[in-house]
Amino acid sequence: MPDMTRQIFKVLTLNAIAAVGLKRLPPELFQIGQDMTDPDVVLVRSHNMHDMHIPESVIAIGRAGAGTNNIPVNRMNARGVPVFNTPGANANAVKELVLAGMLMASRNLIPALRFVDNLEGDDQTLHEQVEAGKKQFSGMELPGRTLGIVGLGKIGRLLADATLKLGMKVLGYDPKITVESAWSLSAEVQKAHQIEDLVRRSHFISLHVPLNDSTRHLIDHDLVACMQKNTILLNFSRDAIVDEDAILMGIENGTIKYYVCDFPSRKLQHQPAVITLPHLGASTQEAEENCAMMIADQIIDYVQNGNILHT
Ligand code: MLT
Repeated sequence: MPDMTRQIFKVLTLNAIAAVGLKRLPPELFQIGQDMTDPDVVLVRSHNMHDMHIPESVIAIGRAGAGTNNIPVNRMNARGVPVFNTPGANANAVKELVLAGMLMASRNLIPALRFVDNLEGDDQTLHEQVEAGKKQFSGMELPGRTLGIVGLGKIGRLLADATLKLGMKVLGYDPKITVESAWSLSAEVQKAHQIEDLVRRSHFISLHVPLNDSTRHLIDHDLVACMQKNTILLNFSRDAIVDEDAILMGIENGTIKYYVCDFPSRKLQHQPAVITLPHLGASTQEAEENCAMMIADQIIDYVQNGNILHT
């Protein structure tokens, strides 16, 4: 329980946190700044805190986002410092970007855009080149295709609902959720009891598990070898959930048609079959505001009542 005899809690923001959230912190209780040596509370989005000196003054860390892998959670918890996060607050934004990623891949939009960008000549010539070249970008439609969702948390479930409505078949796998609770929301999601089973049966595979010791390199050579030819693999979770060498192997042997991911990678950069985004999953006004409000409310609840939720 924080020491409530103090007058004011100093809040250090390591990344931009939406104003609507910061405004919830009453100024008579919180002083917010971007440069403090002895903060009580640290608010962070994606800043990597692992190699950073975290002063003894810190009593709580709040992450405006779902994943906490940029924070030394065990080290902080051992010091009695809770780490708060905002599961679900940005889930819709991530789901929408995954849908965009699926369509970018299924309709070959990135190579098609590059093709048009590189055309030269007058309008007539452009039209002729388009007519001659567009066949190579012929894609596939989603209804009837199978999407395998690995991780049935808030994002995975929203994605399942949306893609079922688009007429896809949805397979779900989540080692942590009991069969009953995972499928209580959507009876139409079919169960995969083993990840290998999901991988074998899916045209699209989307990863929605947090990064931890049990999920690091979850998608390895063996799992890529189980995939169908021309699988579209989407990773809007964390880069290290896949073994990038396995992805390269899958691209080379035609197992992976596209790897769509939300992080930069030196190894995968410039691969035509890799679509890379700059960690945009949660970057919408709505998601940023939801996360900021949710984290602010938890910090207030903690310093006022000692409550710890979502850690
Ligand atoms: C998350 O873990 O929810 C995202 O990484 C949030 C973000 O992009 O800041």
